[in-house]
Amino acid sequence: MDTKVVSIEEDQIDDKAKEYLKEAGEIIKKGGLVAFPTETVYGLGGDALNPESSKKIYAAKGRPSDNPLIVHIADMEHLGKIVKSIPAEAYKLAEKYWPGPLTMIMDKADCVPYETTGGLDTVAVRMPSNRIAAEFIRQSGGYIAAPSANISGRPSPTEAKYCIEDLDGKVQMIIDGGKVGIGLESTIIDLTVSPPMILRPGYITRENLQAIVEEVRVDKTILDSNSKEAPKAPGMKYRHYAPKGNLKIVEGKQEEVISYINEKITELEPGSEKTGVIATTESASFYKADVVKIAGNRDDEDEIARNLFSILREFDDENVSVIYSEAFNDTGVGQAIMNRLLKAAGHQVIDLGR
Ligand code: TXA
Ligand code: MG
Repeated sequence: MDTKVVSIEEDQIDDKAKEYLKEAGEIIKKGGLVAFPTETVYGLGGDALNPESSKKIYAAKGRPSDNPLIVHIADMEHLGKIVKSIPAEAYKLAEKYWPGPLTMIMDKADCVPYETTGGLDTVAVRMPSNRIAAEFIRQSGGYIAAPSANISGRPSPTEAKYCIEDLDGKVQMIIDGGKVGIGLESTIIDLTVSPPMILRPGYITRENLQAIVEEVRVDKTILDSNSKEAPKAPGMKYRHYAPKGNLKIVEGKQEEVISYINEKITELEPGSEKTGVIATTESASFYKADVVKIAGNRDDEDEIARNLFSILREFDDENVSVIYSEAFNDTGVGQAIMNRLLKAAGHQVIDLGR
């Protein structure tokens, strides 16, 4: 299949852009697939109410079909059609955080096929704030099933070039809307349990959610590497975001982390491995690795979130085989950053103590 790549600027949706979005909508209505930008990461979209489209999404991603898809809507009126009933918390949370990087799980209506929900009786719903996404969803009939637009197991794409890398020839169209703003996937909250539970941390934090609904729990498998329990979001059990190199996280005081990593790199037989470090602006110049990537300023969690996935991909492109990463704060958005980093590292953490 030929993949058509089109470019649209989010703050300039002109006639040409509208034409592209209409064409994208036609592709979806005919059962095809389109990769598109959202504020979190790029999505791989198909018609959420068409079981054949969902099957194609799983095939294009190489994703196990027990891993449910998020249904993206653009207008609040459309929510009622795909869920059995709208819980009171959903109205409150939607008022504050929709459109935006929050996914809510509710009981599904009959019109949502099990192919979309991975066999579950619940459905995950999100209303993205990216204007290209919103217009694309409307042009497509209102309901877009979309996982992140990467091949299963790779980091989620934060730029269209990564969608092209993973999906060229597998989708009809890729909409290039530039680099995404957030860089980590949406926060997922399950509203079918009481109190509601966070299944995946994201840009909207537990504190943000608790400001709106009284009590919110967190699935304890999210940060705990020793948990024997299965995560409640089926997708969280897979080793995601894994770079090809062996990634380890080193935790401890800054100077000790730097000397530990440098020591480990020096111990390697010269030329035997290509080494990489995920560092911060403050620490980068101290590392002796072949490739040192700056995630951002240590205190700028938003910047670190935005850069993390592209850094993991760049290590692959540069064939880095041994990677060390500093650990980041795990408060606020940091919890989402550390959740993704821990998964990328297969939970290999070296704790040097505080
Ligand atoms: O930011 C995002 O959420 C991006 C953009 C494209 O919107 N999408 C995304 O989709 O990250 P995906 O498929 O990569 O991750 C969806 C996660 C998976 O871990 C899946 O298991 C979980 O949501 N999920 C979906 N429906 C669910 C349900 N009914 N119950 C529990 N978990 C669900
Ligand atoms: Mg994903």
